[in-house]
Order: sequence, then structure tokens, then C-alpha cells
Amino acid sequence: LKTEVIFRIHQMREWIQMKRKPGLTVACAPTMGALHAGHIALIEAARAASDFVVVTIFVNPLQFDRKDDYEAYTRSLVKDLEICRAHKVDAVFVPSGDEMYPVPAGTFIDVPEVSKHLCGSFRPGHFRGVATVVAKLFNIVQPDLAYFGEKDAQQVAVIRKMVTDLNMPVRVVPVPTVREPDGLALSSRNQRLSAEERSIAPILYQALRAAQADVAQGCLDSQAVKSRAQAVLAAQPAVRVEYLEVVDSLSMQPVEAIEGAARIAIAAWVGSTRLIDNVLCTSGEGMVF
Ligand code: PAF
Repeated sequence: LKTEVIFRIHQMREWIQMKRKPGLTVACAPTMGALHAGHIALIEAARAASDFVVVTIFVNPLQFDRKDDYEAYTRSLVKDLEICRAHKVDAVFVPSGDEMYPVPAGTFIDVPEVSKHLCGSFRPGHFRGVATVVAKLFNIVQPDLAYFGEKDAQQVAVIRKMVTDLNMPVRVVPVPTVREPDGLALSSRNQRLSAEERSIAPILYQALRAAQADVAQGCLDSQAVKSRAQAVLAAQPAVRVEYLEVVDSLSMQPVEAIEGAARIAIAAWVGSTRLIDNVLCTSGEGMVF
């Protein structure tokens, strides 16, 4: 199998048109590159469910609220393409900035309610940038299925709401977070941690797990659940929590009491690196990872 590398929008459209036949499905895994085992999980899930897999690699300037963060974002195309070839991706779409935004964008997709809390309140314009570029990528690739990691649970919720509200013919498929053996959620940003920062970063997941365990044992008060996570985090004063919140897992609105399922989500700075993570908690029904 040859992995096609496509740089231009019109070539991507031609490729899809050539491949698309009744009864065959196209799956897409949109990424910003710097591929790791979390992305490989998306590719494998897509590969198992569809006839053609397209990975998109585009570091989208529209979703970065800080220029330095955009510039510091890891770019590793050669390695990314090797990973795609090794995992039998059919096509990799790698547009340039000029290809995606030949003129400054004048049309945006806003999903205000779902974007309001968590990352949305600390990264102005982030989800507007995500929703807009994902809509563009869907229009270009026209996938039947699209795969996103659950580590970015709010992003999944924003995209789901956009797809539903705008009747986009795409099924959004969330894929469970892939973790290091010590629990740290995989992220391209982990590469920026110093050895000492890396050794303390798993405390985010430890805090979420402690809170999740409390919920599983019947503690349904969000404040109490958050306090439990905060108590774990207090052991590492070097970790600066940006938010720690219990939200409804579809609407991403904070909840005071956990009914059924909720997500505990955290964003924290470890040194100069911002990490996010979340877990689903279900009252009384054991733990879900
Ligand atoms: O999750 C990401 O890598 C990005 O936010 C996405 C979905 C590719 C949009 O740029």
C-alpha cells in the first residue's frame, strides 16, 4: 500500500473523488502533526472501521491564542509520514498555511455554549479556530467518520455540536486517551517538560483518579470531588492549576451534583508547559477510564 502525500486542496478532492465508491467509507483523523501513540490509536480505530484513512496534518494558526505557542508547536513531518506509512494510512493531507488561508479568514464557526468553560475561558478564540478549521477539513476531505482523542474532551464536544447543528454528514468518533505507564496523558507538549517537570506531571492524572474513585464510591457533590483532587495536587506546589472542574460530559457545563456521568477536567501549568487531562466519572458503577 502506498501512502499518498497531498499538499493541495484540489488534489485532495481529486483523490477522494477517485476513491469514493458506493458502500466504501472514508475516515479522517485530523491532527496538527507531532504524531505519537495517541494519534496512532486514532489511525488504528479509523483503519479498523473504514476502507480509506486520511490523516490531516496542519498546525492551525487560527486556534492559537498565543503566537509563541504557535511557533513553539513541534513540527516533525518526516517522522509523521513514516508513522502514517507504518500504519497503512491511505493519504496524508499536509496543506500549507497559504493553502488553507490564502486570504485572512472572514467566516468563523462559533459554538459558544460548549466553548464557554474550561479551556474556552482561558484560551480566547481557541475553539472558534478549531471548529472553523475542522469544518474546512471536513469540506475538503468529506469523511464519513472522523476520529478525535478524548484527552481533548471539550474539543470533541464542540465538534459534535457543530456537526449536529450544521447537519454535517460525518460521524464523530471519540477515542480513549492513551497514557504513559505512569498515567501521564500523551501530548506533543510533553516533549517540552524538563526531566524534573516530567517526573511531577503524572500528578494531574493521580488527582483525577482520586476524584474519580470518590465518585465511584458515591460522592456526588462536585465541590467535594474537586477538593479531593486539589488535596492530591497540593503535594506538588510547582503545579499551577488553571482550572479544575466537574462538567456535564456532553454540554461541558459545570455541574454542582453528579448525576449519571460527568467529566472531571483539569488544565495545569508545569513550569512553562500547559497540560490538560480529564476522566469520565460514573456514580456507583465502578470506574471508567
Ligand atoms: O486536536 C488537534 O490536533 C487540533 O485541534 C485539530 C482537531 C486537528 C484541529 O486543528
